[in-house]
Parts: sequence; structure tokens; C-alpha cells
Amino acid sequence: MPAPANPVQQAAMTDFIRGLPKAELHLHIEGSLEPELMLELARRNGISLPYQSIEEIRRAYAFTNLQSFLDIYYRGAGVLVHERDFYDMTWAYLKRAQADGVRHVELFFDPQTHTDRGIAFETVVTGIDRALQDGREQLGMSSGLILCFLRHLSATAAMETLEQALPFKDKLIAVGLDSSEVGHPPEKFAEVFDRARREGFLTVAHAGEEGPPEYIWGALDVLKVSRIDHGVRCVEDPRLVQRLRAGRVPLTVCPLSNVKLCVFSCLEEHNLKHLLNLGLCATVNSDDPAYFGGYITDNLVAVQQALSLDRESISQLARNAFEAAFLSREQKQTYLDELEQYLSTYSAFGPR
Ligand code: ADE
Ligand code: ZN
Repeated sequence: MPAPANPVQQAAMTDFIRGLPKAELHLHIEGSLEPELMLELARRNGISLPYQSIEEIRRAYAFTNLQSFLDIYYRGAGVLVHERDFYDMTWAYLKRAQADGVRHVELFFDPQTHTDRGIAFETVVTGIDRALQDGREQLGMSSGLILCFLRHLSATAAMETLEQALPFKDKLIAVGLDSSEVGHPPEKFAEVFDRARREGFLTVAHAGEEGPPEYIWGALDVLKVSRIDHGVRCVEDPRLVQRLRAGRVPLTVCPLSNVKLCVFSCLEEHNLKHLLNLGLCATVNSDDPAYFGGYITDNLVAVQQALSLDRESISQLARNAFEAAFLSREQKQTYLDELEQYLSTYSAFGPR
């Protein structure tokens, strides 16, 4: 257990973390749907949910593993029907992220969760994209959209989804892979990822969340990903750690998610500090904040406390995220300069 920080120092650290310019790189937009908006959309769209109140929804969020979460998460996403619903959900996230100091976000969406219910791909992508455009214009927040294939569904279904996405290529920066990991190795999607890369998409994949290090190797070697989402199980394979370190392959780590889904028994047991000490390009993200009890600042504050991370480690996490972002060299440098400016002002005037 970390030594309890004195409350004044802890408040200063929390302020420091909240004010840090941030990039969020692992955020499922459907996982940002707060219970309040879920109930409102269910009412608006005449959809019945198995919950009568916000308290009942929150009580249902007691997960034992990834699958127990996904079952509830896909059900929650069923309230999204119209373009405006996708807009409202995305806009709500962007405003919340702005309050957390997020300057740049790359968010995932799961089109198959919606197209399999008869919602048009265009409805989904247009609603999210319109909010992202408003985020650029009204909040000054840059963003990118990543289409995730659901790995529990077939490779053929993923290829059909990619084909549906091609007319909207200008709105997408990358493709990814999410949903039930174990039993669905990256190799299953080799062909669809090959095609996506030929079409000009960057690639990422969830790997090593619940699945073994072999899935991280598969994501790197077969799907040719630029980042690994989660990746916390890489530490079980020293050769893999070496590969990730040498290639500076970013890991988008989600500490509160990992505890909620029982990947680690508690935050004190989380291996984030170890990943940093191994010299890996780890970043901190919120995954599905409405389900896991916290946005990006909450994740950083919680992990800072649980692992007694110092200011330098927190600063490094923020730098890593801008380095790992799908931005041009110039855009990255602009954000990194802003970050260094914040750090130097803070260390000159802020509380120690
Ligand atoms: N979809 C939403 N959150 C996810 C997670 N943590 N892992 C896999 N798929 C997901
Ligand atoms: Zn995720």
C-alpha cells in the first residue's frame, strides 16, 4: 500500500493532473454513454431497458470479466437510433473531456453493434463525425475516428463492414479490433486488416487485455498495428517487451477498466509503473468511462495515488500520449510544446 499523501499535497497533485494538456487514445464512444443519457435516449426512442432508474443501472455495473461487461454494454448501446443520438453522445463526451484538459482524442466506434440492429452505417458515422467537427470548431479539440471490428463476429462480417466504410474514408483515421478477446486471435482478421492497410488506414488492435502475449505478437506481425490497446500482459514475455521497447510501440493502458474487469485485483496491483520502468511507451486512457467509474483525469489521479507515481512519471505519460497520437510531426510538436510550457510554469509557480 502506498503511504497516504498529505491532503494538501494530494490536492496539488490532482490540480496538476487535471490541468495537464492531454491526448486520449483509447476511448470507446459507446462506452461514454452515461446512464442519464441512456435513459433519456431510451425514452426518446421508445426502447425498453431492463432498468427503471439510474441507481439500478449503476448497480448492474458489477463486472467479473470482459464478457460480463460486454453483455451489458451492447445492450446499453441499443438506445442509439438516430444520427442525433450519436451526435449527443459524442458531444457529451467531448465537453467532459475538455474539462479534463484533453486537447486531442482518437475515439473508437463499433459500427456492427448498430448495423446489426438495422441502423445505417451512415447514420452512425455522420452523427459522431458532426460532433467531432463541432469539437474542433467550438472546443479547439482535434480528433480522429477509429472503426473497430467486433472480433466475436466473423472475418466476413468485418470485411463487409470495411466495405461499408470506404465511402466515408475521409472521416476515419484507422481501423481497430475490440470485443471478446480470448478465442478470437488477431490472425482471424489478417485479410481484412491487409485490405484496410491497402486502402490507406492505419491499424490498432486490443491485445493482451485478457488474451496472452501471443495475441500481441499477432497484432504486431500480422495486423501490423501502430499501437496496442491495453497490452498489459506483454510483461509475461521478455522478448515481446524488448520488441515493444525497441519499436516504441505505444500501449494504450486503461487502469480503472482493468480493475473493473478483474484484469488486476486492485489498482495497487496494476503494472503501469512497471511498464514505465521497462521503458515502454505507456499511456493512460479511460476505455469506457461511463461504465468504469472515471474519465482520463480520474484514471490518472487514481493510478498516481495507488502506485505513488511522481510528477515526472505523470508528465512522461502525457508526453507518451502525444508521441503515440496519429498526428503529423508538426501537430505533435505543437502539443508537446504546450505540455512543456505547462510543466515549466507549474514547476516555477505551482505547489510542489
Ligand atoms: N469494447 C469496449 N470496451 C472494450 C474493452 N475494454 N475490451 C474489448 N472490447 C471493448
Ligand atoms: Zn477498449
